[in-house]
Amino acid sequence: MEVIIRPTSEEVSLLGAKIVSQLLRTKPQCVLGLATGRTPLQLYTELIRMHREEKLDFGGVTSFNLDEYVGLPPDHPQSYHYYMQENFFRHVNINPESVHIPNGIAKDIRAHCEAYEKAIFQSGGINLQLLGLGSNGHIGFNEPTGSLNSTTWVKILSEKTLRDNATHFPTPEGQPRHVITMGIGTILRATHCVIMACGDKKSHAVKAMIEGPLSSMCPASALQLHPRTTVIIDQAAAARLDHQDHYQWVENHKLDWQIFS
Ligand code: GLP
Repeated sequence: MEVIIRPTSEEVSLLGAKIVSQLLRTKPQCVLGLATGRTPLQLYTELIRMHREEKLDFGGVTSFNLDEYVGLPPDHPQSYHYYMQENFFRHVNINPESVHIPNGIAKDIRAHCEAYEKAIFQSGGINLQLLGLGSNGHIGFNEPTGSLNSTTWVKILSEKTLRDNATHFPTPEGQPRHVITMGIGTILRATHCVIMACGDKKSHAVKAMIEGPLSSMCPASALQLHPRTTVIIDQAAAARLDHQDHYQWVENHKLDWQIFS
């Protein structure tokens, strides 16, 4: 894993956006894996700015989102369809037909999950997968103790994640317990994974992901098996890491072509 520590969440987001834009400029027909949650909001804002001010072109991009709540229609304000539309898609020139988000109201959810996995494969695979990190170490909605080789499927949220995300929902009854998520196996097939985490609430999960053992107790630790994962975290999220000096040393000694520019 490449571990990059920045002083603030803003700098984390700007670097994340830089990595996405670098891929887009070298490979305009790329396949992006996209994430939701609070963490990537500023990254999307920066990509929108780059689209407006620097002509960053999303016209050739295909996208696959990580997850969606079961039972929420696309126009539901708490759905990830709505989130993506409002915070990103409607502000850039991505082709709506090239956008894929799991359908939380699919009639046959199991067939839909299989078709989603197949569509990722048929697109040629994800070139760059953006990820956030749950405070319990989840990525996508892959909760602790789940398979580290799973594919897109329906999952049941843990009580911890329900509590973490409760503020997004006006009433507890309105908060879905079930989700569709890309599996850990799906995520590990992406060419490059970029995971961002900010704030001290994420510091335990960050420590377990980077320096803990490979374990389904921290699903994000599966990224230790991935050939190219970039972790971008702020100082607060990095606070529990034992090897911060080493990560800084590695960053200081990158070869020119390894530097994100
Ligand atoms: C949510 C999402 C994840 C997200 C994570 C962190 O439950 N399913 O994809 O990365 O939890 O969310 P946040 O960035 O809001 O802390």
